[in-house]
Amino acid sequence: MPNLKPLFFRDAAQLLTLAGPPAPRRGAALRELGIIRDGAVLTEDGKILRVGKTSSLEAQARRLRAQAIDCRGRVVMPGFVDSHTHLIFAGNRVEDFERRIQGKTYEQIAAAGGGIQYSAKLLRRATERELLSQAETFLDEFAAHGTTTVEIKSGYGLDVAGEVKILKTIRALQRRSAIELVPTLLAAHAVPARFAARRAEYLKLITERLIPAVARAKLAHFLDCFCDRGAFTLEECAAVLAAGRRFGLVPRIHAEQLTHTGSCRLAIETNAASADHLDHITAAEIAALAKSNVVAALVPGSNFHLDTPAYPPARRLIDAGAAVALATDFNPGSSPTLNMQFILALACVKLRLTPAEAIAAATLNAAYSVRRADRLGSLEPGKQADLAVMDVWDYREIPYYFGWNHCIMTIKRGRIIYCRK
Ligand code: NIG
Ligand code: FE
Repeated sequence: MPNLKPLFFRDAAQLLTLAGPPAPRRGAALRELGIIRDGAVLTEDGKILRVGKTSSLEAQARRLRAQAIDCRGRVVMPGFVDSHTHLIFAGNRVEDFERRIQGKTYEQIAAAGGGIQYSAKLLRRATERELLSQAETFLDEFAAHGTTTVEIKSGYGLDVAGEVKILKTIRALQRRSAIELVPTLLAAHAVPARFAARRAEYLKLITERLIPAVARAKLAHFLDCFCDRGAFTLEECAAVLAAGRRFGLVPRIHAEQLTHTGSCRLAIETNAASADHLDHITAAEIAALAKSNVVAALVPGSNFHLDTPAYPPARRLIDAGAAVALATDFNPGSSPTLNMQFILALACVKLRLTPAEAIAAATLNAAYSVRRADRLGSLEPGKQADLAVMDVWDYREIPYYFGWNHCIMTIKRGRIIYCRK
């Protein structure tokens, strides 16, 4: 790999550094973006060398013969870390979408053979090449919207071969894509129809065959499960996560999404990296989560797309001191968006986060939730040079002008991976 040319992002109207310890931001600290006006960032060898006022970095940039990038009238910020996606899927679920518009619910559609089972059917028919090609197209779009790190869950395989096929696709993508990928085995997503009367057998397949196979091949770092009505019970999820723990897989949980199950408590007990969704979390659980290191990952894109009557109690979570992150939950069933800027808009309008809180939740706290806050999520010397340049004067315009893409340049490990033409 040739030496990377140093880059000098200069004259930014606002540079959002999010400088601070590599720990999640809680309470009032979530609003602190560490803004430098007329800010600059100097990168070298894929890392951030310095940040500060443009005038104070100019001499060093000249000495390094850094390539200058004019950021006048623009906001420079850390690239988004999308900590919850299911981006490896085949085809789509527009049929489900239309049925929901006509009045059927997500759960009714799933029970009638749509939903995750339908995606699993399409995945079984797809070749690895097809999966790879669709995923690469998506990753290009992530980059174009300012996202530089993406967690990806398996989950549409519903058997050992299918899950391994997804995780191997992620591994192949890691070699081809500039975006940093974080693989998660979503082992318990739905009980396949053929196991409907033999759940215990399917659980055994997960704990005794799938988890060991994935862990031995080092195909995933995290282990997720969908704890809900129509998916897996609390006891089943506890058994799955315990099996994963024996192989060093770190838990994350789809918790309290459609109904209340007690899965938020399970996340705390198992010291999970995150508890995601949390629509039906109780007051006592909010207090318990706030005392823990489990990140509350909110995914309002799924509330929007499923048009749920309520959104998760984000304000109460933040005010109680929980570590809140935001993610797209990009998937074909409940949240077909990969645009973190739209998630910021939803977070502001529907979850009542301020724009500053939403940005910190989508960068530093999300980085913490994938256990990479030592390298990602803020613009500070020594951290990885992962940046997004937004064509706005004020960061609040990002969620305010919702539904369009403000990103004009994305940088990963000091390399320009997207530049608007
Ligand atoms: O995060 N809740 C489970 N998993 C996804 C939806 C998956 C699907 O419908 O395909 C979610 O909402
Ligand atoms: Fe999900």
